[in-house]
Amino acid sequence: RRPALAAGAAAAAVVLGAGVVGFLGSTGAGALEGGGFGPVAAHGHAADGTGSEPSDADGTGSEPSDGLSVTSLTTAPDAPGAPGATVEVELAAQRQSIDLPSGRSIAAWTFGELAGPALDVRVGDTLAVRVTDLDVAAGVTVHWHGYPVANAFDGVAGVTQDAVLPGEELRAGIPMTRPGTYWYHTHQRGSQGVVRGLYGTLVVHPASGPTEDVDLVLPVHTFSGAVVLGTSDVLETRTVAPGQSVRLRLINTDQAPQTFAVQGTPFRVAALDGTDVTTGILQDRALVVPAGGRIDVVFGMPDEPVRVGVASDRGGGLALVPSAGSAVPTLTIPETAFDPVTDLVAAPAGSDSPHADADAAIEADLAGAGFDVERTLLLDRLPRLVQGAPNYAYTVDGRVYPFIEPTVVSEGDVVRLRFVNRGFETHPMHPHGHAVRVLAVDGRVPAAPLWLDTFDVGPGEVWEVALDADNPGIWMDHCHNLEHAALGMVTHLAYRGVTTPFEHGGPAGNAPE
Ligand code: C2O
Ligand code: CU
Repeated sequence: RRPALAAGAAAAAVVLGAGVVGFLGSTGAGALEGGGFGPVAAHGHAADGTGSEPSDADGTGSEPSDGLSVTSLTTAPDAPGAPGATVEVELAAQRQSIDLPSGRSIAAWTFGELAGPALDVRVGDTLAVRVTDLDVAAGVTVHWHGYPVANAFDGVAGVTQDAVLPGEELRAGIPMTRPGTYWYHTHQRGSQGVVRGLYGTLVVHPASGPTEDVDLVLPVHTFSGAVVLGTSDVLETRTVAPGQSVRLRLINTDQAPQTFAVQGTPFRVAALDGTDVTTGILQDRALVVPAGGRIDVVFGMPDEPVRVGVASDRGGGLALVPSAGSAVPTLTIPETAFDPVTDLVAAPAGSDSPHADADAAIEADLAGAGFDVERTLLLDRLPRLVQGAPNYAYTVDGRVYPFIEPTVVSEGDVVRLRFVNRGFETHPMHPHGHAVRVLAVDGRVPAAPLWLDTFDVGPGEVWEVALDADNPGIWMDHCHNLEHAALGMVTHLAYRGVTTPFEHGGPAGNAPE
């Protein structure tokens, strides 16, 4: 099942192959100045929304001629582990009519199958990815949600590559360095493409393999009213022997929070957004997963059935039964939800966190050293021009994409961001390329270090988070309710001196949101 390593795993960490789009055909850094459209640039330029030349926002001067192009940023922040297998991944975007188990048929767009090829790899493996587009006219990309890839592989049309159009292909080699639950999706017209089904799951096990006896990946996605958990819209049943250890990887690929229940057993939350966490034993707690977020739950299979499902479809979901024919209880959703701010406990001594260095730096800054960069982002709903047409927009600091000032950082900076939601809707904020440590939610400080890559900033809430700028590039930071993103709520974390040859629009019709 696991093919032997092809010679030179390191060589795979660059863009491969002929007929590649995206990393060729660069028009040079000057493309940033093109047109009156004024996409944000890495070095602090931001257009002022009037169609004039971009202003020199941070006084660092004009286009650095020695700028680093996003296409040259191919080394991820994690050190590679011992090399494992090369895993060939074919992602062929296509329109597909899918007959769901209920008998309902949906007109989906997929990467080859419902919920994508489910990628299941180990630390040390290299994904040898080939992205093609069979017949999705708007084009596609592949973004690795939550996974700390190098910027060149971030898959954002118009920022890190051009959209892959029908007949084109893109190849990339991505080293797997960090275990956890992730997912991937198109980042070209995402509010259409992701919603229609251009997504899949990525599970990275430790190099030694899965840690539980039964490991189930449960993305929830709603296709015009049909709630699909995994690949089914009806109640599925699976026999699990009592005493076996079970891990459920709950993933929300929708636009709004999804409330899961795991009923019939006490459990622990083992990971949030791919980072291991420790909790006490929880029971009768709902699990609210932000749009784009992931919660891993572990438990020992009891002698009684365990029912897993979401509040938006209580008839469906999954029943784990100790033996065939066990009666399955009705799904009820607990009134109290698991709260990552209060329910984490310190990790046992000796456990290693991928964020240990960042934790130390952040704690030093909190203790008085101060942060290198601080920024407050005001989230509102305001009438604005979006893509030239008047709309009731979702804004950051009163502006819409691509006219929002980027947060400009240098490699090594420790950055504090404050998200202030002044509206009446939840905004699942998602910074690319970096997890953030939550410092406070409305002043409540997490009981143990809490690292997330997707977090629900609820109506009226203020989230203070910190990140370690260890992954140079131009990174989107946006609302993962992709309808909100399409209506403006997209900003960037931009490293000084990084430039992009790609542009919004252009011949590939790049439109990341
Ligand atoms: Cu899940 Cu910008 O993406
Ligand atoms: Cu939003």
